[in-house]
Amino acid sequence: PVLVVDFGAQYAQLIARRVREAKVYSEIVPHTMPVAKMLEKDPAAIILSGGPSSVYAEGAPSIDAEIFEAGIPVLGICYGFQTMAAALGGKVGRTGTREYGHTDTKVESESCLFAGTPLDQSVWMSHGDAVQAAPEGFQVTASTKETPVAAFEDPARKLYGLQWHPEVKHSPFGQKALENFLYEGAGLEPTWTSGNIIDEQVEKIRAQVGDKQVICALSGGVDSSVAAALVHKAVGDQLTCFFIDHGLLRAGEREQVEQDYASSMGIKVVTIDESKRFLDALAGVSEPEAKRKIIGREFIRSFEAAQRQLLAEAGDNAKDIEFLVQGTLYPDVVESGGGEGTANIKSHHNVGGLPDDLTFELVEPLRDLFKDEVREIGRQLGVPEKIVARQPFPGPGLGIRIIGEVTFDRLETLRAADLIVREELTAAGMDEEIWQCPVVLLADVRSVGVQGDGRTYGHPIVLRPVSSEDAMTADWTRLPYDLLARISNRITNSVEEVNRVVLDCTSKPPGTIEWE
Ligand code: XMP
Repeated sequence: PVLVVDFGAQYAQLIARRVREAKVYSEIVPHTMPVAKMLEKDPAAIILSGGPSSVYAEGAPSIDAEIFEAGIPVLGICYGFQTMAAALGGKVGRTGTREYGHTDTKVESESCLFAGTPLDQSVWMSHGDAVQAAPEGFQVTASTKETPVAAFEDPARKLYGLQWHPEVKHSPFGQKALENFLYEGAGLEPTWTSGNIIDEQVEKIRAQVGDKQVICALSGGVDSSVAAALVHKAVGDQLTCFFIDHGLLRAGEREQVEQDYASSMGIKVVTIDESKRFLDALAGVSEPEAKRKIIGREFIRSFEAAQRQLLAEAGDNAKDIEFLVQGTLYPDVVESGGGEGTANIKSHHNVGGLPDDLTFELVEPLRDLFKDEVREIGRQLGVPEKIVARQPFPGPGLGIRIIGEVTFDRLETLRAADLIVREELTAAGMDEEIWQCPVVLLADVRSVGVQGDGRTYGHPIVLRPVSSEDAMTADWTRLPYDLLARISNRITNSVEEVNRVVLDCTSKPPGTIEWE
């Protein structure tokens, strides 16, 4: 793989994705991983990400200089560029002026990274410190008004550095610079294609599963659908899919899933109604992490029950059902800690919430993939477009969109409001524009209103429309006022318990997309 060493910036995932867009496989590792362990992964190249610190600050993250001596091509970006300079004997300091945003840059024609790009180009900067002198053996290949050393390279040692961010779309030739590094600097081939990913995963699944039975947790979303399609391609009818109705679904969702899979994908789906189990387990619980853990646990319990049911039906011929498919994605793994030392922000129910007494072995064919790769693979596998293009919906469902205790009546209230929002967004042609729009019921909050001749004392509904590329960062979507007005009118007129509709205008960060 190409290793992307994460220095604590939100950019590491973006870098890893851009590398894969160049059809080269990449993995993220924390900067705290010892260099020897990084080398064990036999990296084809290494990219050092940006980060929030100053290289000379006390306790600033750094990397052992031996990484530059292993003969592996290295590209340092922003903070990674500065760490590289400092480690190899260059000089890094505060320039007094910050460069932020679009910056005019002059690049050298005789440079590996800038081959095929204009000599004058705009790049995206975000830094206060700068490299003031390149280490010995390096040639300076770009400069700006404020930053004389804005890029450098030492082709003999295959070491390269950029002060700016090639991974953001605001650097028009950023992707080209990354590709130049990967193809020319590191001599890699663009072989990470969806066809190859499918072949590789199919083989892996067959090797893992053998002739045993597999069951799959279908949620109706993109991830579990594509995971199921992959496993189905690998082991055919050894796969049985279950759709757990946990009672936390949106209106009409169960019927939709039942139709879609059987008819268009030829995958066997058994629906199990477990809503009572989940609602009982959630009774009296308001704390978000507690809810998530309970939902994750009950999911597994539901599947164990399904397993017993299947075994009973199969009678004496029953082969053990030992495997459970999960549509876990790479960002879930990274955000949940991934065992590699990144911060745990929320325990996603399909990773952090698994109970210890799990009796299934997990099959997670999407564990190394980003969402856009999953969609691409889904299309190639023939998963219907309406499933592949579906907006994300969290596994814990409406359970984490009711702030306060989850009860059946509150779910019905939220379902009614959510349906109105979805109908109006679709009618207004907004589905492509937004990433998703959680609708949240503030069940523990009441406010006074007036309707007809009477005083009301009802709950607020929060609209959380967001635009995003990957859910790691997001901005709130500026929905048209008249659309907001229609949604608000319809909800307050027809959903009994609700007398107020409010708009969440917070980006991520600092807010997460969901409220819990
Ligand atoms: P946050 O709230 O962390 O959400 O900004 C990021 C994206 O992840 C979805 N989400 C989940 N998906 N299981 C899932 O499958 C979960 O536990 C979960 N929590 C959040 C959320 O809808 C958004 O798209």
